[in-house]
Amino acid sequence: MDHLAGKTAVITGAAGGIGRALAERCVAEGMNVALADIDGAALAHTVAALQGGAGRVLGVRTDVAKAEDVEALAARAYDELGAVHLVVNNAGVAVSGKVWEHTLADWEWTMGVNLWGVIHGVRAFVPRMIAGGQPGHVVNVASMAGLTVNPLMGVYTVTKHAVVALTETLHHDLALFAPAVKASVVCPGWVKTDITTSSRNRPTHLAETQQATQLAAAMQALVAAGLPPSRVADEIVAAVREGRFWVFTHPGFLGATKHRSDELLSGKNPTVAPLF
Ligand SMILES: NC(=O)c1ccc[n+]([C@@H]2O[C@H](COP(=O)([O-])OP(=O)(O)OC[C@H]3O[C@@H](n4cnc5c(N)ncnc54)[C@H](O)[C@@H]3O)[C@@H](O)[C@H]2O)c1
Repeated sequence: MDHLAGKTAVITGAAGGIGRALAERCVAEGMNVALADIDGAALAHTVAALQGGAGRVLGVRTDVAKAEDVEALAARAYDELGAVHLVVNNAGVAVSGKVWEHTLADWEWTMGVNLWGVIHGVRAFVPRMIAGGQPGHVVNVASMAGLTVNPLMGVYTVTKHAVVALTETLHHDLALFAPAVKASVVCPGWVKTDITTSSRNRPTHLAETQQATQLAAAMQALVAAGLPPSRVADEIVAAVREGRFWVFTHPGFLGATKHRSDELLSGKNPTVAPLF
């Protein structure tokens, strides 16, 4: 989908980090954008900041973990902005810790946002995009944690591996049955965003969590020194234009994926690859 001006994008988790940077880029491309986020105040602030471009900007407060919220987002986007051409399932949260110590709430919250959020996005938008008969593109934001396995990140890693598998399947199914709609999966390494404070948006009924490990502090430093989110937005837009499935923002990190694949193919027990 080379020509973006005048087309419509829907971006979840659009009030901060990678989602906001991508929304800014889509506005600069002349697209209409529907911004979805659970954080109503940050969303209102972002919508106000992005007004004034060639396209229209719509903000829809959405909890992507809830099917009915994502369905309402799709309905409003189609009603108010017309056909949607680009959907970016980006909203995500992170927890870390020993896999047997995580609370059920840790699992439910993280699976709800990172995996069910993407499932709801695919179910709400893809049938509408196919029925519309126009070119389209679905971008799901996973992580390098979707292609590697490291200690103390079990819950997050499970969700991101699932998002990679879901998106790869989506790519195959679209190629067979609806080739005008494409799919991409984004696998970033460290990006300078607010991901390490994602519990700020954690629902109170899922608040119970385990104690933070020392990985949490290490992750804060790695994220603080990470890639600017605008670089991730640039890579996503390039992939949409090229119809490219894999979006790697840190190609050097793929060494960890090769390490895992080599061990797997030779039947060796897993060892930890140098952390990205
Ligand atoms: N930052 C990194 O180093 C990094 C690395 C790999 C992958 N990612 C992925 O990038 C995506 C974006 O994260 P980010 O780094 O920009 O983090 P961020 O915390 O800066 O932004 C995430 C946005 O999602 C929103 N959000 C949280 N829960 C939500 C919900 N239930 N419904 C709707 N919106 C919700 C937040 O309010 C926030 O605006 C995530 O999927 C994350 O897993 C980030």
